Amino acid sequence: MNVPAPIRDFLSVETPTSWVNSAVERVPELLLDHANCELKAASTALGLIYRYPERGALADRMSRLAREELRHFEQVRKIMREFDIPFERLSASRYAGRLKEAVREREPERLLDVLLVGAIIEARSCERFAAVAPRLPDALGRFYLGLLSSEARHFEHYLAFARSETGASDADVELRVAELLAIEASLVTGPDPEFRFHSGAPAGFSRPRLAAST
Ligand SMILES: [Fe+2]
Ligand SMILES: [Fe+2]
Repeated sequence: MNVPAPIRDFLSVETPTSWVNSAVERVPELLLDHANCELKAASTALGLIYRYPERGALADRMSRLAREELRHFEQVRKIMREFDIPFERLSASRYAGRLKEAVREREPERLLDVLLVGAIIEARSCERFAAVAPRLPDALGRFYLGLLSSEARHFEHYLAFARSETGASDADVELRVAELLAIEASLVTGPDPEFRFHSGAPAGFSRPRLAAST
């Protein structure tokens, strides 16, 4: 399954093939970090409800989105158990942290940036599912293709709220998207010493830490 056209058009760079090659060799780490990403996605959605409770449409959508991300978290955990992959702590990737550093502090810019970073992370996740799924074991590949459409929908929701909830003009949104995507592109294509779901081009990775059992 190909990346949905709106996401292909939105992202400024493709995931490097070298990342896909690493992911195929590191399925346990991929799944472990993926589980963490789903949990963080739920947490981001809940954070928006806490911070902006007066925004009813946003709160309603984020509540549903958080539940969906938690369901994904449970599904990844189930697959990890089936593959006999141990659960352990894994440090966070630089990706989301660096994007969040770019979020401006003052409102309404803060809300615009949080929503756009959310859209970018969902779009990249969707693109990575499509890139890696054909090279994964069958059951896992099918699961990833199933998630792809959910994350594509989340991307659309975040982008729509960035336009409807912040009062930013289309030109302002486009400009900020371009700025944030420039940061994202450098994180995705630049050398990265650590393998994670959203890591950059592999640069001197250590041997896979977890024994692959797939
Ligand atoms: Fe998800
Ligand atoms: Fe999502």
